This record gives sequence, C-alpha cells and structure tokens, in this order.
Amino acid sequence: MLEVDSVNQYYGGSHILRNVTFTLPSGQLTVLLGRNGVGKTTLLRCLMGVVAIRTGKIHWNKKPLEKLPPYSRVKNGLAYVPQGRDIFPRLSVEENLLVGAAGNRSVRTVPEEIYKLFPVLKSMKSRRGGDLSGGQQQQLAIGRALMGQPQLLILDEPTEGVQPSIIQELGRTLRHIVTEMNLTILLVEQYYDFAKHLADRYLVMSRGEMVASGSGATMDQDGVRHMISV
Ligand SMILES: Nc1ncnc2c1ncn2[C@@H]1O[C@H](COP(=O)(O)OP(=O)(O)O)[C@@H](O)[C@H]1O
Ligand SMILES: [Mg+2]
Repeated sequence: MLEVDSVNQYYGGSHILRNVTFTLPSGQLTVLLGRNGVGKTTLLRCLMGVVAIRTGKIHWNKKPLEKLPPYSRVKNGLAYVPQGRDIFPRLSVEENLLVGAAGNRSVRTVPEEIYKLFPVLKSMKSRRGGDLSGGQQQQLAIGRALMGQPQLLILDEPTEGVQPSIIQELGRTLRHIVTEMNLTILLVEQYYDFAKHLADRYLVMSRGEMVASGSGATMDQDGVRHMISV
C-alpha cells in the first residue's frame, strides 16, 4: 500500500501541492483525475523522487520513501511512465526495453511475458523507437517500465496522442496487469470515460489539493465528470 501524508511542494514562490494526503490500496487500479495544471504530474514526480518534496511523508509498504533518490524507489518496486512517454527514438524497440532492466544485470533479454502483453513490440523489436506510432510508443514505455518487475506502476496520461482503437486495447492491458499480474496502478487520466471504465478507486485533484475520492463504480453519481470538465 502507498500512503501519502500531507505532502507540500513549491515551484519558486507558488504553492503547487497543498497537504496532499491519500492512500493507494494494493492490487487495485486507482485513477487520479483533475483539470490541466492542478498538479497531477508534479505529484507523480514527487512520488518517484524526480523532484523533492518540501514537507510530508510517502510510505510504500510501510517503508519511508521521501528521502530516497529515484533509482532507490525503482529498486523498491515503483515504476513510472511519464507524460509524453520519453522513449529513446534512436534506440531499437528491444534496446528501449532492455534499458528498463538496466538496474538488474541478470536481465539480458526481454522476457517473453512482455512480448505476450505487447505482441506488436515483438514484431517490431528491431525498428527504431522513434518510428513507432503514438500508441505503439505508449506500449513500449509501459513494457519498459515492467522490465524492472515493479509492484506499483504509475502512468501519466497514457491515452494522450493515442488513437481510439488502441486506447481500448491499452485499457484491457492495464486491467490485465492489475488482475492477472497482481500489480497496483496509479493512472493519471483526463479522459473521463476511459478512467471510469477502468477505475477500482478514484481520486480528484483541484488546485494542488485532493478534493474527492471514492469507488470507481460511483464516479457518475459522485459527480466526478462535472468536477473535471472545463
Ligand atoms: N518545472 C516547473 N517550474 C515551475 N512551474 C511548474 C513546473 N512544472 C509545472 N509547473 C506549474 O505547476 C502547476 C502544476 O503543473 P502540473 O503538475 O504539470 O499539472 P497537471 O499535470 O495537473 O496538468 C502548473 O501551474 C504549472 O504551470
Ligand atoms: Mg500533467
């Protein structure tokens, strides 16, 4: 379980995260929703340690993470698929995947499990990452994150720039990762219908604060669509 307690974060003089407090139950998919600019990406970067928090606590399975650098958090089971994917355009698909296991010297090949999850990556393993479509690059970024054998997978707007037919497939894959592979997922998403379809739990942020949370099944009744519409 991830436990986040009273996290505060500033960029210069502006207070970006305000006493952010929530928990993520293990083995479930939690979606984090919120309008543009409310601090979702900043929160994820704080969870990974890419930016330091000013105050607050972050525990993963009772272990304090807030002082650990990003690579230690990865070693402790966290994985991050950043907004915009950040794959290496000049490396092959296979090389991109192997980069995800760089912290583990015993991994020299891509496990068949990854290619089973994303068959398209197998058929394109020698192609350059930059030559893949948006949806394929997103699959590559998720595959790369899974190479570290994480327990918690954190994704920032994976549907951005991905065509509708691939978005559905992506949803099925994320559900499979939770249900069959037993991972915990935190998914930042602006696309309400996709989020509602997948969520076991939801969280809503507004102007740096966590303002609502609940079961995925009651998102409509709880008025979540209204909270995030512009
Ligand atoms: N590196 C940065 N330096 C200064 N301000 C930033 C930086 N990154 C984001 N911000 C600001 O912090 C706020 C939250 O941004 P962000 O976390 O990206 O929001 P979201 O992901 O919800 O769209 C925004 O007002 C944004 O302009
Ligand atoms: Mg963002």
